[in-house]
Amino acid sequence: MSKVASLVTENNMKEILIIGPGSLTGSRFVELGKDKFEMYGAGGGMDENLTGLVSFQSLDITNQKNVEAAVSSFPGTYVMNFAGATLVDEIEKTRPADSTDKKQLDENIAYKVNVLGTKFLADACKKYDKFPIFISTGFVFDGKDGPYSEEDQVASLPDDVSWYAWTKILAENEVKKSGVENLTIRISYPYRSEYIGKLDFARNFLKVYDEYKSGIRDSIYPMFADQFLTPTFIDDIPRSVGLLLGKGEAGVFHLSSPEIVTPYDFCLELLRVARNVDNPEELIKKGSIVEFQQSHPEIAKRPVQGGEKSDKIKMLGFTPTSWKEGIRKAFEKKG
Ligand SMILES: NC(=O)c1ccc[n+]([C@@H]2O[C@H](COP(=O)([O-])OP(=O)(O)OC[C@H]3O[C@@H](n4cnc5c(N)ncnc54)[C@H](OP(=O)(O)O)[C@@H]3O)[C@@H](O)[C@H]2O)c1
Repeated sequence: MSKVASLVTENNMKEILIIGPGSLTGSRFVELGKDKFEMYGAGGGMDENLTGLVSFQSLDITNQKNVEAAVSSFPGTYVMNFAGATLVDEIEKTRPADSTDKKQLDENIAYKVNVLGTKFLADACKKYDKFPIFISTGFVFDGKDGPYSEEDQVASLPDDVSWYAWTKILAENEVKKSGVENLTIRISYPYRSEYIGKLDFARNFLKVYDEYKSGIRDSIYPMFADQFLTPTFIDDIPRSVGLLLGKGEAGVFHLSSPEIVTPYDFCLELLRVARNVDNPEELIKKGSIVEFQQSHPEIAKRPVQGGEKSDKIKMLGFTPTSWKEGIRKAFEKKG
């Protein structure tokens, strides 16, 4: 059992400082975590409809003093960070010409939020004896021979992955350098049934389909049949964090569908379940990510033969939701 985590037993209400509670993943954590955790929020804007937080304070994670003040004044033990720069294709446009040049990095928003923000948080948690929980991504792997376990090496060159992914690799390195005991949970293509703030992998495709059905668009673009991924059902995050904290675990954990799938097959199933389409194969053409990436080098790279193996968390008693079951849970029409 980890040193800090052992301070709190499984049955105690755990106080968590949630950074970025309005995010796609964080807001669901707050919704589902109400009975399990006592949550205090900090971050940028807040969704007024989000209930479940004891309090909310504004916090800029790129401001070291701000981060130190928020962490040092928090009376609880756990600090969970959902804040991040996440718009992968937008971030790609900001890739610095020289990825080692300090001036260019200091001006790069994704670097500031993802790398420096994580560093400031990890350092503050180390200094004030807190236990941080970070969210990382399966994009840290180059996607040449996935699916990957926690033991596998992340990409070693910035050009092998998207700029977003590189900032997440650097962020993971900062956590290691800080020496703080922590949990780092890597997720992939997270999806949930609804969220106003932004679309995810699944709801984006449903939007495309709905626009096609209502005549707003002429066709549905092809879906990649040669990319392999393991989507994360967002509802698994609070459940798995509860289990890991209860067991006093620390370290890196993958949290993704135990079964691998292509975007093509995922979207076929999505149409069957969420829109009652009997023969979705007649609507969606197969596309190739390999060809797409060759013809669109400006678009952020995604792992092709990607996916995460989540055996480590399975061994501890939590089996992540499979992609098929997740689609059913999130999108099956009730009644
Ligand atoms: N979404 C994905 O596909 C995906 C996949 C794998 C891993 N992840 C990881 O999961 C985590 C959460 O991602 P998400 O998609 O749920 O996030 P999101 O919906 O894009 O929200 C990002 C959050 O970060 C906050 N934020 C941005 N800059 C900030 C700053 N300087 N100070 C404080 N807060 C700031 C935003 O607040 P404002 O809105 O107020 O600016 C927002 O609440 C990230 O670590 C991400 O890398 C995401």
